[in-house]
Formats: sequence, structure tokens, C-alpha cells
Amino acid sequence: MTEFVSVLRGVGGHLPSKVLTNDDLAKMVDTTDEWIAARTGIRKRHIAADGETTSDLGVAAARKALDAAGLAPDDIDLIVVATATPDYTFPSTATVIQQKLGITRGAGFDLQAVCSGFVFAIATADNFLVRGQFERALVIGAETFSRILDWSDRSTCVLFGDGAGAVVLERQPKAQAGDRGVKGIHLRTDGRFKDLLYVDGGPSTTQTVGHLRMVGNQVFKHAVGKISESVRAAVGQAGLQISDIDWFVPHQANQRILSAVAERLGLDEQKVVSTVAEHGNTSAASVPLALAAATEDGRVKPGDLVLIEAIGGGLAWGAALIRV
Ligand code: UT7
Repeated sequence: MTEFVSVLRGVGGHLPSKVLTNDDLAKMVDTTDEWIAARTGIRKRHIAADGETTSDLGVAAARKALDAAGLAPDDIDLIVVATATPDYTFPSTATVIQQKLGITRGAGFDLQAVCSGFVFAIATADNFLVRGQFERALVIGAETFSRILDWSDRSTCVLFGDGAGAVVLERQPKAQAGDRGVKGIHLRTDGRFKDLLYVDGGPSTTQTVGHLRMVGNQVFKHAVGKISESVRAAVGQAGLQISDIDWFVPHQANQRILSAVAERLGLDEQKVVSTVAEHGNTSAASVPLALAAATEDGRVKPGDLVLIEAIGGGLAWGAALIRV
């Protein structure tokens, strides 16, 4: 029987044009560029303009991923959008993006795993493709976290930004794909930690959108161990070694977490793709944004083994290993 794999055909990222620097934030809350840069590595973040929505950012990233893949919107029959900041409570942002791209076939839906959303979305699309339910998927991480921040809370508002990233995944027979494709995945959640990072509103509780709340130092403590555990599991599932990884493309939340995970795994810091300085924590968008940056500047090349990982609200965390 023919075996199938999901192969990454193209990647694209998009950041809104408005930039908010650390110095800009220092005029809004009691903080400094020095504190933010030293504690997080973040220098600036991008903020969606009035009227610019998560779907707008997602569409822009999707078009870039399609261009990189040499494909047209109508080549896509599945759209999975990882977002915690959808345009509407319903319909899904995926269907809004489907309509904006002019796609009239297949299916689309949103997936909610907050900052880990892109890893969960890759896992979801991979399963649909390998099973033969769809042929080509747009997997998008898109967020407008600026809309759910409490701009008077210095412990959270300095950390996040808006943006989107997307990849095209294609079902291919293993014989055609060679060694390319999604090789290993590990997903975890543990709802006992839901109060460490959450939004204090929602349709069924407060009938409001709510604001992001985080016990940052507690999340930090969980992050390094849980991410390392997931990375080891994904690499083990693929029958590979940590030393086989060419590029480590982590969720961009905090430079100190990136460095600590790399150190714990014994990964050369040169292999770590870091874009956190440029856009802060863009939740589900951060992994594909970093992957797009490292692909566009020529670091990530066809045939490279790429490890993606993330942790966030839930807590939810995971890792995926992809030969691109
Ligand atoms: O994407 C989801 C996953 N999220 C994460 O991975 C985030 C994980 N957490 C973190 O990145 C870090 O914990 C933070 C960057 C959020 C905070 O860094 P920290 O080194 O853990 O600092 P802290 O929370 O322990 O706070 C240290 C001090 C506190 O003051 P006191 O109590 O020591 O007097 C805070 O009030 O820093 C203070 N502080 C600030 N000072 C200046 C908190 N925010 C700020 C600020 N500017 N913006």
C-alpha cells in the first residue's frame, strides 16, 4: 500500500506596518527599554491598524506561502487557522480567510491552542493529509493580541504583538517525497495550570472579549522543562537524535527561554532561529514568522531538519520535527 507524508511546500510571514518600540511603551507604562530587552530580548512589536483584522494578516501570510510554493489559492482544499484572537466569535477566521482568498472548495476551521496553536495545527493538518482526506493545506498562525492586552498592565503589555505566518503542506507519496515531510510530533496539555495564563472573559462567562492575564515567572518555570520533554519525544518518535536537528525554530516568547531550552538540549545556539527582538510574542504566529524569516534569508534550505516547538495558555505545549 502506498504510504503518504505531508511535505512543506512554502512558507510566508506578515507583520502589520505599525511598530511600537520599547521606548514608546515606556511612555505608556512604568517600564524601560533596558528592563524589556534584558528580561525578554524584545526590542519592538508590530500592532495591527484600526480595522486591520486577524484574517487580514492571515491572508497576507497565506499569499506569501502560496507564492513560495508556486501555487494558487484554488490549489488549497484545507485551511487550518491557529488563533486565540479570531475576527468573530463565529464564523471561524478560516472561513473568512477562505472567502478573502476566493477559495470555494474544501473546508476550513480554527484551532485554539493559544501560543502552541501552530504546532497543534501542523499536527492536525498532517493527520488529515496522511489519511487522504485533503490534498493541500494552508496552515496559518494569525493573531491580533494587541486587542486583548490590558495596556495598563506592564507585566503583560510589553510582551506581545500582532502578526501572521503560514505554510502550505502537501500530501505526497513517500516514494516521491524522499526523506522530506513531517517526521515526528508530540502534543500535550495540562488544564491544572489554566490560571497561569488566560483571558479573563469570553462569550459563555462574561459575554466580553476579556484581557490577557499571566503569572509570567510561573509560566517561565514550566516552559523550559516541558518544551525540552516535547522536543525529545518528537525527535524520538522520528527515530532521530537531537544532534540531527539543523534548525531549532521555537515559539518566540522570551530569548531567555530559547537559550535555556537550547542549552538543556545541548543544541548549538547558532542553530536557534530567534526573531523575538523584532516582533515580540505573537502567539500562534511566532513559529511560522520565525520559519519564514530563516527561509527567506537562506538559513533554512531544502532538506534541512527543522524542529518547531511552543508552550502557552492551557497550559498547552508541543513540538514537531519536519524535514523541509
Ligand atoms: O507565550 C506564552 C508563554 N509565555 C511565556 O513564555 C512568558 C514566560 N515568562 C516570561 O517571559 C518572564 O517571566 C517575564 C518576561 C514575563 C517576566 O520576567 P521575570 O524575570 O520572570 O520577572 P518577574 O515576573 O519575576 O518580575 C520581576 C520584577 C517584578 O518586580 P518586583 O516584584 O521584583 O519588585 C515585576 O513587578 O519585574 C517587575 N516588572 C517590570 N519592571 C519593569 C514586571 N514587568 C515589568 C516591566 N518593566 N514591564
